[in-house]
Amino acid sequence: MRNFFRSRRDEGHALRPLLTWRNVLVFTLSLVAPALASAQTIAPGERVSINSGWRFQMGDPAGLTTPLMYDVRPVVTLTEDGKQADAKPEEAAQVAAAKQQVLKPWILPSGNAFIKDPAQRYQRPAGDPGSDVSYVQANFDDSTWRKVTLPHDWAITGPFITEGPYGGMGRLPSWGIGWYRQKLEIPASDRDRSVFLDIDGAMSYATVWLNGKLVGGWPYGYNSFRLDLTSHVAFGGTNQLVVRLDNPPHSARWYPGGGLYRNVWLTKTNRVHVSHWGTQVTTPQVSKSSATIDVAVSIDNDSQTEASVDVSTDVYALDVGGKRSGGIVAKIDHGKARVAAGASAQVKGSATLANPRLWGPRPTQTPNRYVAVTTVSRGGKAIDRYETRFGIRSLRLDPTHGVFVNDERIPLNGVNNHHDLGALGAAFNVRAAERQLEMLQEMGSNALRMSHNPPAPELLELTDRMGILVMDEVFDVWERKKTPLDFHLIFPDWHEQDLRSMLRRDRNHPSIIMWSVGNEVGEQYTGEHGAAIATSLVNIVREEDPTRLATTAMNWAKPDMPLPATVDVISLNYQGAGIRSLPGQFPAFRERFPDKLILSSESASALSSRGEYQFPVSGSISGPVRPGSGGDPKTRQVSAYELHAADFGSSADRAFAAQDQHPYVAGEFVWTGWDYLGEPTPYYSSRSSYSGIIDLAGFKKDRFYLYQAKWRPELPLAHLLPHWTWPGREGEVTPVHLITSGDEAELFVNGKSQGRKKRAAYEYRLRWDYVTYEPGELRAVSYKNGKEWATASVRTASSPAKLELTADRSKIQADGQDLSFITVRVLDQNGLPAPTAKNSIRFTVEGPGEIVATDNGDPTSFVPFQSPVREAFNGLALVIVRGKAEQAGKVTVKAESAELEGAKVTLKTTRRL
Ligand code: GAL
Repeated sequence: MRNFFRSRRDEGHALRPLLTWRNVLVFTLSLVAPALASAQTIAPGERVSINSGWRFQMGDPAGLTTPLMYDVRPVVTLTEDGKQADAKPEEAAQVAAAKQQVLKPWILPSGNAFIKDPAQRYQRPAGDPGSDVSYVQANFDDSTWRKVTLPHDWAITGPFITEGPYGGMGRLPSWGIGWYRQKLEIPASDRDRSVFLDIDGAMSYATVWLNGKLVGGWPYGYNSFRLDLTSHVAFGGTNQLVVRLDNPPHSARWYPGGGLYRNVWLTKTNRVHVSHWGTQVTTPQVSKSSATIDVAVSIDNDSQTEASVDVSTDVYALDVGGKRSGGIVAKIDHGKARVAAGASAQVKGSATLANPRLWGPRPTQTPNRYVAVTTVSRGGKAIDRYETRFGIRSLRLDPTHGVFVNDERIPLNGVNNHHDLGALGAAFNVRAAERQLEMLQEMGSNALRMSHNPPAPELLELTDRMGILVMDEVFDVWERKKTPLDFHLIFPDWHEQDLRSMLRRDRNHPSIIMWSVGNEVGEQYTGEHGAAIATSLVNIVREEDPTRLATTAMNWAKPDMPLPATVDVISLNYQGAGIRSLPGQFPAFRERFPDKLILSSESASALSSRGEYQFPVSGSISGPVRPGSGGDPKTRQVSAYELHAADFGSSADRAFAAQDQHPYVAGEFVWTGWDYLGEPTPYYSSRSSYSGIIDLAGFKKDRFYLYQAKWRPELPLAHLLPHWTWPGREGEVTPVHLITSGDEAELFVNGKSQGRKKRAAYEYRLRWDYVTYEPGELRAVSYKNGKEWATASVRTASSPAKLELTADRSKIQADGQDLSFITVRVLDQNGLPAPTAKNSIRFTVEGPGEIVATDNGDPTSFVPFQSPVREAFNGLALVIVRGKAEQAGKVTVKAESAELEGAKVTLKTTRRL
């Protein structure tokens, strides 16, 4: 059995002698702004994107004789798909020790900077495995390989795997081996600098060679990591960089994507420089009139001689766009740092800022930010500069009253999201992520749980900028497995490095309010042993960031078990509203842990397909999906009446009631804000989830309005369901539901009242269960405190006649990254939405733009996302258009359909917005 407390020495690697060990401390945060370089002989560091110019190929070279695997993996005999998400995780399989060479001993030292105990760090064995492999050679001819620009997800182009047990991972071919090659010119003038490769995320088991020599790697696909290239660089020449990824099958419960799917950077610094993620900014005292800013800076000395440097930090305010506004607002003189050759040292300092502009969540507060610019100088000359963005805010987690930011109570109106961006896959795109967050904010959401892994760094930049609270999470499993080849295989060797690196990278983000060390881990079931693991993870959090609390999401642990006692915050998945026959667990946890904040880290897991209303409609407010009751196994669609959930979940309404009945609960993170690729419960032969409040294409399901009405009660809102176009249902009972932020409403069918109803306590919609369908108009008038508050109306459409295109942004940057999301609506001849239209639509683009993907939000569709032809799904489709890099101009997007009048929309792409 794998033992968590097994010493790393068991691996049989000699320890690296401490004295020669360099980069002892590597801390979080960003980069040096090249624009800051003043008149120094060596510019104070630069970080350049190396996203373009890659060549890519799947598979190892034929006849490979050198094994390049990280480690031996268990043989997978069982390919389970469609396991209930809350199935009990299992013990790891026994794996015989590797008989052949594996790369693990060469890769493990890449994480040394994140291992606290020097005696546990790894020494690199002699030799350079892989140096004889053709693909790592500088002179290998890769001209036939595909040209790719990062971020790149090799699996999103499909094709979908329509048969077999692949629903969990999204039916896209994410597993396999992929090679990336890139040439780097590094001038002779850099000879005295340190050169680093910074990878924001590589899915997964990355191994890196430079000029034929193995540099190192990082197995966990969601973490960012740095490799020191310096000793392998050919200064004044062309350097061949090679990355091999080996993404395992059966390794995730959702779509992981595959490839270099986030940004990749080349960072060059003076040999004496701020460590990687080397600053920690905290604000221990905050009020409206003043704030204390503490800045700790860690300096690495990569040179052969001791260095004595001066360190100072200037603080500037940032504007909404993240640019510096105005002059220096605070100055910190950290004094001198003496750093021994090959070692690190830390200096601290503090400043007081009068009348700070506080960071706080939208909509009641403003997410103001600052930047700390740290300068390292020697002999009066700046040799390194490093920027740390941060916010000033106070945070208090009160077990009885919830989360307070700057002394204002903020109910957690949160959602969970996975990392994929729908039709764009896992390849990170700032605009796509921003669009997700904008829609969530429109709904009234103010918090996001990063389920179940560290996000792209830019996502946290967005949550900081947009004022969204974050639970940052590191793992979905510890020692026990959920899928045969998931992270449990490397948890014993890598949990410390992965957890510390997430904490150091992310700890300066004001949006993060707590750290989660796990999700529904199998160690809930392993008593004291599981609790010991939890304790060691929580201790790591305390060491790295004493300013925030730690939690782990629990779907099964009960108050009297050892695990909950180890964490600071009680995060319950589904247990609040009750799981299956278990009653709601909030009171039991509250009683046992009166001093701990309690929240729902996952609520609901309600399921639906947008626009798919099924009959008969359940009279209950929450139930599982069963054939004929909420679900249709033939079409694999789940009813849009929003009354059904995963077997262990509950409808939004029931989850709301559980929250409202237990006001000490700090709030919820709904499973999920957006639909995601994979985990298509309850129909594992589909491609994407049914749990999103918003579908995969970004169209609102009816559930959106349940949350909006609850979370934005001041917004006059009335939303009717279902649609009112039911040829053939004339005379049949067709229940009508109204979602409103009012407290009472009257419903009319063609002007005839169906009665006026009042919302009772813990009711979140009004229902008229016996309405008889007749074509025409369904209309509702809602009231609040007796006064008219909002109205809604739905009319019967005639047959589909035309298309309408609406771009979310009609001006985008011509940078090859920025996107316009264009919604296509099918309308009848009078311009009414045709709510069941499924017409096939062909898209074309003229001008300097290109179609990146299309979608319609149908979880059962296997049409490749890149297809320019897409059927509408219940009247809607989406086309995503990108402006070509450096080719500003007018882009015309056309939509045509054989039976319908076409439409077009014009976008402008510009070099600078
Ligand atoms: C939970 C789990 C999530 C997801 C969800 C699906 O049990 O933590 O990752 O699987 O169920 O409803």
